Amino acid sequence: MHSKNNIIRVKKAKRFGGEVSVPGDKSISHRAVILASISNGRCRIDGFLPSEDCLSTLGAMRALGVQIDVLGENDFGSDELMIHGRGLNLTEPKSDIDCGNSGTTMRLLSGILAGQQFSSRLIGDESLSTRPMERIVSPLGAMGCKISTEGENGCAPLSINGGGLKGINYEMPVPSAQVKSALLLAGLYAEGRTSVVEPLRTRDHTEKMLDFFQVRTDRNDNEIGIESGQMLESRDFVVPGDISSAAFWLVAASSFPNSQLMVKNVGLNPTRNGILKILVRMGAYVSESVETNSGGEETGNVTVQGGKLKGIEISGDIVPNIIDEIPIIAVAAALADGKTIIKDAAELRVKESDRISAVAENLSKMGADLQETSDGMVINGGNQLQGTELKSFGDHRIAMAFAVAGLFASGQTIITDAECVSISYPNFEEHLIRMTSATSKASEHPIPVITSFPESNSSN
Ligand code: S3P
Repeated sequence: MHSKNNIIRVKKAKRFGGEVSVPGDKSISHRAVILASISNGRCRIDGFLPSEDCLSTLGAMRALGVQIDVLGENDFGSDELMIHGRGLNLTEPKSDIDCGNSGTTMRLLSGILAGQQFSSRLIGDESLSTRPMERIVSPLGAMGCKISTEGENGCAPLSINGGGLKGINYEMPVPSAQVKSALLLAGLYAEGRTSVVEPLRTRDHTEKMLDFFQVRTDRNDNEIGIESGQMLESRDFVVPGDISSAAFWLVAASSFPNSQLMVKNVGLNPTRNGILKILVRMGAYVSESVETNSGGEETGNVTVQGGKLKGIEISGDIVPNIIDEIPIIAVAAALADGKTIIKDAAELRVKESDRISAVAENLSKMGADLQETSDGMVINGGNQLQGTELKSFGDHRIAMAFAVAGLFASGQTIITDAECVSISYPNFEEHLIRMTSATSKASEHPIPVITSFPESNSSN
């Protein structure tokens, strides 16, 4: 496999496996930079993901007057940072803040900017400028912030004239960790108590990290509350590996007969590890061991032994937990025996691309048998996939999911516009080459005992 001129070319793999440490978690990296910036002192962040999305957050915090020093670099960027926290009050930016492709940057930052005594304007790239922002504009407006969208249909650019916030109780119409996080952050600046009710449980990194920084939030079922006037105590933080990046390798190994894979130091937060449960329900041999608890985030190793997967139904509570993994799960389903039904995932239509139609188009082009539905798809797995030329739709997770599909397809698979992988996984190709090469360390790490989650019929 190689990429040239932003193209990834993949041939059918003869082997797959080994040991890999994936780069830092994207969601946690954003939050580490934002929370450290508004803490009361210096915070060292290790394992930061220097991908384009997280660099957008880093650039934004610098534009808001936060000093961020680079202490160390790995092969693909700066992963050790010293953040000089400013406390809750930031400095008015000199120009528009560019959030690039990152919805997390735009939505979380809006929560902080809503509490500032100055005006700011947030812009994004073409994709981000078509994503729904009313979902934060409406509740932040209800808290008293003067916030509006300048784009069509409630899209960016966003103008924010902060200050004068009052706590509200908000029932989110869609499950979204970004909206929940924006409101909890705004709650730090609001008078009284702010609370958010989520219709389904979403990732809880913000709550965990606030707790780590000594800010109290409380949870009562699906309601999370925060009292204003709390100061974040500066702390050093280690970002675990990103399970959403690991998912590409976990699916490849699970679907590849006799492969053995170990992913090390990966985040295993229960609101994010649904991919492991899905693979077990599909018949994979998966073992998970939590080794540390870094800043409140469970971190450990995952081992997988390859075999033949089977189709399942995916719907309900687990969907927010695996929302970013559904493109690669759909690839697993196309490789599996039998029918997979994916439901309740309409949110995929408003991600970096319309991921339902992008996945359906690419899998169909490869010869898979599937039907797109309004909130998911039905995949009849087991057809031999054919290599062909596929678009990434400018979406990192689509590019990587179909690079993995190419490992199982006859002939050659070409992904165009693949430079977008650097949004979340700058060294994706290097890892793919390593895990498909003869020198991969798979045989040095035999998996002695295979344990797995109990077989269950529930969608959880
Ligand atoms: C994220 C939450 C999810 C996810 C995104 C990252 C976060 O989005 O899809 O990639 O870091 O909070 P929503 O909150 O829109 O569901």
